[in-house]
Amino acid sequence: MKLTRVPSLKSAEDFRRHAAGLGIELPCDDQILMGSASPLAQPVEGVSVNGKRIGNRWAVQPMEGWDATTRGGITEPMLRRWQRFGQSGAKLICGGEAMAVRPDGRANPNQFVINEENKKGLATLRERLVAEHQQRHGTTEDLVIGFQLTHSGRFCKPHDHGRPEPRVAYRHPILDRRFGVSCQEQVWTDSEVETLTADYIQAARIAWEVGADFVDLKHCHGYLLHEFLGARTRSGKYGGTFENRTRILREIVSGIRADGNRIELAVRLSAFDSVPFRPDPALSRPGKPGPGIPEDFSHCLPYHYGFGVKAADPLEYDLSETVEFIGLCRGLGVKVLNLTAGSPYYNPHIQRPAAYPPSDGYQPPEDPLIGVARQVNAVRQIKGHAGGLLVVGSAYSYLQEFLPQVAQAVLRHGWTDLVGIGRMVLAYPDIFTDALAKGRLAARRICRTFSDCTTAPRNGLISGCYPLDAYYSSRPEFGELKRLKAG
Ligand SMILES: Cc1cc2nc3c(=O)[nH]c(=O)nc-3n(C[C@H](O)[C@H](O)[C@H](O)COP(=O)(O)O)c2cc1C
Repeated sequence: MKLTRVPSLKSAEDFRRHAAGLGIELPCDDQILMGSASPLAQPVEGVSVNGKRIGNRWAVQPMEGWDATTRGGITEPMLRRWQRFGQSGAKLICGGEAMAVRPDGRANPNQFVINEENKKGLATLRERLVAEHQQRHGTTEDLVIGFQLTHSGRFCKPHDHGRPEPRVAYRHPILDRRFGVSCQEQVWTDSEVETLTADYIQAARIAWEVGADFVDLKHCHGYLLHEFLGARTRSGKYGGTFENRTRILREIVSGIRADGNRIELAVRLSAFDSVPFRPDPALSRPGKPGPGIPEDFSHCLPYHYGFGVKAADPLEYDLSETVEFIGLCRGLGVKVLNLTAGSPYYNPHIQRPAAYPPSDGYQPPEDPLIGVARQVNAVRQIKGHAGGLLVVGSAYSYLQEFLPQVAQAVLRHGWTDLVGIGRMVLAYPDIFTDALAKGRLAARRICRTFSDCTTAPRNGLISGCYPLDAYYSSRPEFGELKRLKAG
């Protein structure tokens, strides 16, 4: 497939023509609107979070850096990343980064752990962000900050980047083979789940004491709580029926409230999924993965091994349980619903559309704009069922030059409440300020989705924007990354 590169589209009209040619619906305004004329600059009315009105429609997505100490504590690169989140001007910090609720739940030995030992460090991270935001943007009264709580489940590697230590919700006919699950002892018992709930409650208390406005109870990307949502084949009280598969969320929320903790709640949800993909072996060369193709799932039909997929055709999504889950969230008093999709480990083109694959990925099986539109349109459908929940959309970074023009159009149409940005903020934290103040972007700072921010950690290096951020390109890791990519 020959990709039309986004920078080769010279106008909004070119962009719209290209999108129409792909058969997707992605609105794009002619110009970036500036100042108060922009839908992106409007405060969020009608819903407050921890008594605050969110000051604009930009959200920074949670972005971890694989850069904590091996005891899960803060480091200078983390402080800098949080400072840049504050610098961005986004008024919703939608989780900061994934924080493991216990050390053995880490996705890598350098993931932040939210516990008593690291509490002071967490306060410092938050303070650094708030101070930078105050200095650059004049007020923090309308700045809302959450912490994302996670257990990595199937993707745990708490001790060694090279040693998976998966703990899963259920046996998966395709993923088990890929991620080293081979025996029943790796499946959570019901009584183990009960101790996990206590870890979430404790983490939420620490978040509250440190001054977070909310905690995000992460249900996405194949991590543990997301996997439980799809645990149809599990027996016992946490598997099978929808009620059982969502029991953990209900128990965590009631536990947080029983603890006297009034912190607000968010959920980041993979609204839909797909089957695992892999590089097409027929078109792959050593060091050069071919385009992604679905793993053979013919032996797993009807497909009962995911959340938000059609059992008869798991390449298609089905939002009926997603909508039911969102109703549950609303009933539990969740305020913010941050929607994403798929998983970076087994179908990255669904989760973070990119022109260039990470080292453990595959060449795009479709134009990545189709991936952006898939998420934007799923969010649009879900928004109609969200009631009073604040909806945040994901996967906008691949839009590059056209990000603000698409974002403002999507907001004007009411397809989402806030636009969440991930990779672009690592590369170009001033994108929001430039868009609103100058009406144009600095082309050389735009994220081109080279995926180095993923390739580096897949190979045990810290994450960051190596191509565009001198802080990373001047580090010795950059040389190692280049060698890895060449070899
Ligand atoms: C380096 C990196 C770190 C990420 N860390 C997290 C994380 O800690 N928690 C999370 O929910 N998503 C994480 N994501 C996913 C992003 O939040 C976001 O959903 C994804 O990058 C797609 O949005 P984008 O197109 O704006 O980048 C990460 C993505 C990248 C590339």
